[in-house]
Order: sequence, then structure tokens, then C-alpha cells
Amino acid sequence: MSPHAGIPSLKSTTSEMSISRKHILDLDDFTAEEIQLVLDNTVAMQEVISRSVRKVPALRGRTIVTLFHEPSTRTRVSFEQAGKILSADVINVSSSASSSKKGESLYNTALTIQSMQADIIVVRHPHSGSPNFLARHLDSSIINAGDGYHAHPSQALLDLYTIQSHFGDIKGRKVAIVGDIMYSRVARSNLWGLTKMGAQVVLCSPPTLIPPDFVNGFPKTHPFASVSITHNLSEAVKNADVIMALRLQAERQSRGRLPSLREYSRLYGINSETVKLAKEDVLIMHPGPINEGIEIDTEIAHGPHSAIQDQVTNGVAVRMALLYAVASANGGDK
Ligand code: CP
Repeated sequence: MSPHAGIPSLKSTTSEMSISRKHILDLDDFTAEEIQLVLDNTVAMQEVISRSVRKVPALRGRTIVTLFHEPSTRTRVSFEQAGKILSADVINVSSSASSSKKGESLYNTALTIQSMQADIIVVRHPHSGSPNFLARHLDSSIINAGDGYHAHPSQALLDLYTIQSHFGDIKGRKVAIVGDIMYSRVARSNLWGLTKMGAQVVLCSPPTLIPPDFVNGFPKTHPFASVSITHNLSEAVKNADVIMALRLQAERQSRGRLPSLREYSRLYGINSETVKLAKEDVLIMHPGPINEGIEIDTEIAHGPHSAIQDQVTNGVAVRMALLYAVASANGGDK
């Protein structure tokens, strides 16, 4: 791959702080410097997207397969768009139209795709750890596009990018993550990303939607030691720079964890009263899809503080940066 590949301000991936990596499974193994390089390269990718002809030859000759075993709009479409802007061939496979319907295992489906010369397989799966399993057993690069309630690294990176591009920095910003922490892969990957970048994170959920290993907080030596936990929404959002509302993951809740949606919305929904408690220039975020009127009011989701559509837009450039990093790890031009 040429050092520029049609993207003039792209930072070198052969420097000491290389972000070229074979797989992207979560942010736990990223350093803060590597995250910053992804964010810097996302700026370069935004410049490509802003051109009248949105196309560079960086991944020409590469094949990307998106293998989605769960519904998705944002992640799947943005990986496809990112790959196409970088001139890769992109093939989409969904579980409903694949041989997994006939009982084929995830491993055999992915092995079949690899045998058709896929360089990168972008995987979404309901089982936590599926992308890690594939990364251990296949030669293709694996990018985790969301696995169970384990991780969603590209979402966390686009969230970090959205915060940084709005405020100019992440360090020291108070970020309140509100809602279904228990089943949220977005919250888990954001915990890694935000703490590594020095944000002050507060988790806020009903007592029934906090993971058991989070209940007593984190010991001093834990990577999340700086993270605080509360069940009081007013306390969580007080003076917050960012409020990140999470979707109630009804499909992952095996038994009722809430007395009613109405009560949840009354106690934890983000509304105009909640926003008044935060900083005047608070940024309202949500990974989507949104249950409007449950975890966030319509007027807030579409109001002046909302960065929700910016998150979607930024997702394309972040995923371009990730595809480029993974392709760099796989060697030069084809
Ligand atoms: N945020 C997110 O993962 O959205 P999709 O499920 O639409 O991809």
C-alpha cells in the first residue's frame, strides 16, 4: 500500500506508534496514543469524504465481507460505504440469507468466506466473544462490529471522535453514560476508550441494569478505577459535558428487569429537565437505534444539543480509518 493511498494527510502506519493491526476486537488492547492516531486519521478520512468525488485507491484489490448475524443499519451501511470509498470490493452477508439458516456454524461460514479470498471480515454476532474466536482460527482480518454485550469498538471510536471534534479534547470531560449498562456493548467499549483518553466517566442505571461486577465500583488498581456509578440521574448528569443515553436492549433481557417502561422513562429518560442540570453546552449522544420517548425524549434527540446524526456521519470516516489500519497490517498493494 502506498504511504498516501490518495489520502494526503494520513499519518504513517509504519511509525513507532503504528495503528496497523491484524484484528480490531475491542479497545482494551489499544493505547491512548493508538486511539489518538485513529482519531487523527479519521480527520484525514473526513477530508476525503468532503471531496466532490469521494473515492481513493487505498484498498483497491482488497475484499471486505460484512457478516451480520444481528440486525444493523448504521454499522453495516457505514462499513460498506467506508470500504467503497477506499475502493475495496465489499460483499454483504446477512444470517437470514446465508447457509447459517441451514445449520452451518459461524466458523464454517467464516471459513467459507475466507476461502473466497476475503481480506477483512466485519462480524456482528449475538454471542460475546465470536469475533475473538474467529480471529484465533482464521487468517483473514476480523473487525468486531458488535458481539453480544461484550464490545463494539468502532462505535466507541466514533463516539470519542464526536466528543473530540466538538470540544477539541476528551481529557477531563465529564461523560454520563445512562441506561442499560448491563447489556450494552457500547458502554463497555466506551469505558475502555473514555478512561484511556482521560475522561471522567459516570455510569447511571437502575440497580437491576448494572453488571454484578460493577455494583461495588472498581478497585484502585482496576483500569476503570476513575469511573463512578450512581442510580441517581440528577447526580450523574450534574455539570456533565456529555450525556450518552443507551438503548434498552430488550432482545438481550432474558427476564423482566424493570417494573415498567413508563417508570424507567420517568426515572432515567433524558428530557429537557435532565439537560438543564448539565453544562450549558452539553452534548447529547446516543448510539442508536433510539427508542424515542423511552430513554430519550424526541425533542432532545432532535434538539440543538443533539450530536446523534453527527455520530452516524462520523461513523463512516472512523470505519475508513479502521479498515485502512487493518489493511496496512496485511501488507502492501495487491
Ligand atoms: N449503533 C449501532 O450499532 O447501530 P446499528 O445496530 O444500526 O448498527
